[in-house]
Formats: sequence, C-alpha cells, structure tokens
Amino acid sequence: MSLLAAIADVGVDRRRGGYSRHGFDSAELELRSWFTAEAAARGLDVETDRNGTLWAWWGAPGDGAIVTGSHLDSVPGGGAFDGPLGVTAALEAVDLLRGRGFQPGKPLAIAVFPEEEGGRFGVACLGSRLMTGALSADKALALTDSNGVSLAEAVRAAGLDPAGLGHDRVALGRIGTFVELHVEQGRGLVDLAAPVGVASSILAHGRWRFTFTGEGNHAGATLMGDRRDPMLPAAALIAAARRAASAVEGARATVGRIVPNPGGTNVIASTVDVWLDARADDDARTRAVVAAITAAAAAAASDEGCTVAVTEESYGDTVVFDPALRDDLAAHLGGVPALPTGAGHDAGILAAHVPTAMLFVRNPTGVSHAPSEYAEPDDCAAGSAALADVLEHLSR
Ligand code: GLV
Ligand code: MN
Ligand code: MN
Repeated sequence: MSLLAAIADVGVDRRRGGYSRHGFDSAELELRSWFTAEAAARGLDVETDRNGTLWAWWGAPGDGAIVTGSHLDSVPGGGAFDGPLGVTAALEAVDLLRGRGFQPGKPLAIAVFPEEEGGRFGVACLGSRLMTGALSADKALALTDSNGVSLAEAVRAAGLDPAGLGHDRVALGRIGTFVELHVEQGRGLVDLAAPVGVASSILAHGRWRFTFTGEGNHAGATLMGDRRDPMLPAAALIAAARRAASAVEGARATVGRIVPNPGGTNVIASTVDVWLDARADDDARTRAVVAAITAAAAAAASDEGCTVAVTEESYGDTVVFDPALRDDLAAHLGGVPALPTGAGHDAGILAAHVPTAMLFVRNPTGVSHAPSEYAEPDDCAAGSAALADVLEHLSR
C-alpha cells in the first residue's frame, strides 16, 4: 500500500474521477520512471525492450526466467489497483524474498507492459500482443489516439524506435513461466471468504468499431422526415447489445464509448462511431452475439438511410490457464480457490506461448474499471506474500 500511495498523485483525472494513465502518455511515462527507480533501488537491472515493455532483472537476464508483473496504465477514469497492484506486489515480493535470504536459482524478472487497457490506441494488451506477434507491427503503426497522434509518434517521443516494434522472439523466448498478480474483477473471492486465489480461465472477448454515416444537417431546419441521422442506428445498436448478450448464457456486451462527429447540440451528426466490447465463454458464442448486434445495427442503419462499417479492433479467444501450473500454485498456497474471469490480461496473451498463471487479490465490492475499485491493505499484503511464495517455489 505504501508503494501504491507513492503513485497516488500520478494521472489523477479531475474531470472523470479516478485515474487516466494511458500508453506512453505523461502519466504512464512518469510511472515507468518511478518503477525504474524503485527497481534500481532494489538492485534490479532495468531494460526496455523493442515494444516498450520494462524488464527489471534480479540477476543476469536469461532463458527460462520466472517473470511476474502487470501494467501501469488504466482505463479512462479507472481505479488505483488494476495493473499497479501487480507491479507493486512484484516489488514487494522481491523485498520479502530478500528478507528471507533467498537467491533465485533461475533468472527472475518483473515485466511492466505498456497500454494493457488499450485506453489510448484502442487495442488492449498492446505490449504483449506486439511481443508475441498477436498484433503485427504494421497494424500497430497504423493506430492513432483520439488526438490523431500515431503510435509511432508516441513511442518515438518515449525514446523508442518505431521500426523496432513487433514480434520479439528474444524477449518472449526468455520467459520460462509468467505469473501476473491482479486485483480480482468480481466477487468470487468475497463469496469464498478467501483473500487470494488463482485464475482458471478468461472469457473470449474483443472490440468492434461501428461507424454509422448519415447526413450532417441543422437540428432546427431539418424536418423529421428529411433526416438521415446516424445517432438512430447507434442507439439501436446499444439496445441490440443488451438484447443479444442477454440471450446467450454467460455473454456480456457493452457500449462504453460513442463519438458523434461533429458533436454539436444543434447539429445532426454526419457520422457516429460506436465501440462494442463483447465477451462470452467461447468463440462461437462471442461471434454469435456480435453477429446479432451487427445485423440489428445494419437494419437500423438502412431504415434511417444511413450506412454502417464494422471493424474488429482486437480479439482473443478463450484462455484456459495451464491446469498443471494452476493446480501446483493453488496447492503450494495452501489450497486457494481457482476462479474464472471476464477481464482480459497480458497473462492471457502470454498463455498461448508460455506456462502462465495469475493470482487474484480479493476485491470487497467486485467493482473495477472505476474509481471505487479497491482491495484491503491486509489482502494486498497477503497477495504480495503469496506472490513471493510462488516466485520462490518456481525458482527452485
Ligand atoms: C481489461 O481489463 C479488459 O478486460 O478489457
Ligand atoms: Mn483492466
Ligand atoms: Mn489489468
């Protein structure tokens, strides 16, 4: 908690509440500097890889490394724990292990991935997707933020070479096992009265952008029958998302972001961008929900004399974390519970490539991606101790 308190002023969003810390913006860069100093103070050697992921090494970098870590960016107006808790717990785990006189038998590192939330450039888990090749450099370099700043410009301003972005087999190849600690995003541990658990799976999930195009015009001078207002099919999409996801067991669909252009009170919009986040147990269910929403959006667009274009901005199939590793860590921690999650993580991207596990820390309300996201100090301490135990166990 003292490590989290040290960064409590960074990236505070006075308009939205909570924190807005996004990939390679001033808040995230300040947090990266803070992490680098904290790691150096612990005698860890910090390097930045081609995709902007920070690696703090305890001992010489090498293959078969035990790696822990998370991210320091947030959603717009997010909480203090989603991401930073995994980073501060990793630093604390190093302190605990040092206090035990532990010397790693394998290379050990803390990784801090950039832009995990995709809050700036739209693609979640940007750093881990680039490293693993799940996102190509070409696609990444075409990304821009809402101010028109390209990812290339943003990484260059952060001291990275945009030409270096992309699949990094060396960085990936060094990871023997990856473990990410995270605040739980749900009430599973509350219901089980357990401070710490391990992850079992992540829902299939993705993001789709719908661009509705109509005719910009005057709000007062245009008769109702003469309009081609793209806000109408946008509204229909939002209602269809609720209907379609409610019809599929376990599915979720959300519209959390809608941008009319030009966005004036007395202006019929010429275009509206709507972002859909859809998730379900498996690929088929997720695709079915998105197909139903897309059909409803297309019909509503046609009714209004508008057009719609759909772009899949990111997607990941269901992740099942390595069952042997999950069971081993749960047993090592005294039989802690295993829980599924609806939230995406860099660990979910890495799980397709290396044995990967997650530890969850109890969240008393289950709320996350909001300023009220929270974990009790005692539970955070239990999480750090569990992470130290796991790193020690895996390093032997
Ligand atoms: C990230 O937290 C996500 O689940 O979108
Ligand atoms: Mn998140
Ligand atoms: Mn997270």
